[in-house]
Amino acid sequence: MSARVFTVAIDGPAAAGKGTIARAVAERFGFRHLDTGLLYRAVGARGGDPVVAARTLSPADLARADLRTAAAGQAASRVATIPAVREALTDFQRRFARQEGGAVLDGRDIGTVICPEAEVKLFVTASDEVRARRRWLELGGDEAEVLASLRERDSRDSARAAAPLKPATDAVILDTSAMSVDEAVARAIAEVERRLPAG
Ligand code: C5P
Repeated sequence: MSARVFTVAIDGPAAAGKGTIARAVAERFGFRHLDTGLLYRAVGARGGDPVVAARTLSPADLARADLRTAAAGQAASRVATIPAVREALTDFQRRFARQEGGAVLDGRDIGTVICPEAEVKLFVTASDEVRARRRWLELGGDEAEVLASLRERDSRDSARAAAPLKPATDAVILDTSAMSVDEAVARAIAEVERRLPAG
């Protein structure tokens, strides 16, 4: 593994394919991967004071089995509007991003706030309907409710004052609405390859 610092920032709305792409990129290049949404999900799931939860988050919190549910996603997006929660999680994410050997982080504000110096910035998106269908296939339930819940979460994430969901000005936009997983992953890998230092 190379000792170089190299960060791939992958942002975008819920269920756009960020996690799948991030894991594939990390595996391809031997980089470490951090799903930053899990941090906010863990804070929301702890209950009590979210600022205290963010400041005392432990590996056990991140290992909870119920973090992937729609309810956990909604709770995450509510605590994610609180600046002190975001601040408490910033150092850990920054250190992770700039560790030696390369890192891939997926979230909402990686290219804009956590690591504006990232070597590669991707903003992965897809139409609301396509994203809702993917999430519904993953979690089940009522598809219309899944769509409504995604839209509610995206608008809260985009409208908040603290680190809102938006592409960095220098991000490459990857719209995966009409792409297979393999195609989306191949595009992301090509962007990384273009920017990796030679040798
Ligand atoms: O990515 P995921 O759907 O797991 O994220 C859950 C919620 O956590 C998002 O809707 C968003 O409110 C918040 N989040 C954030 N910043 C990040 C990652 C997630 O605000 N970097």
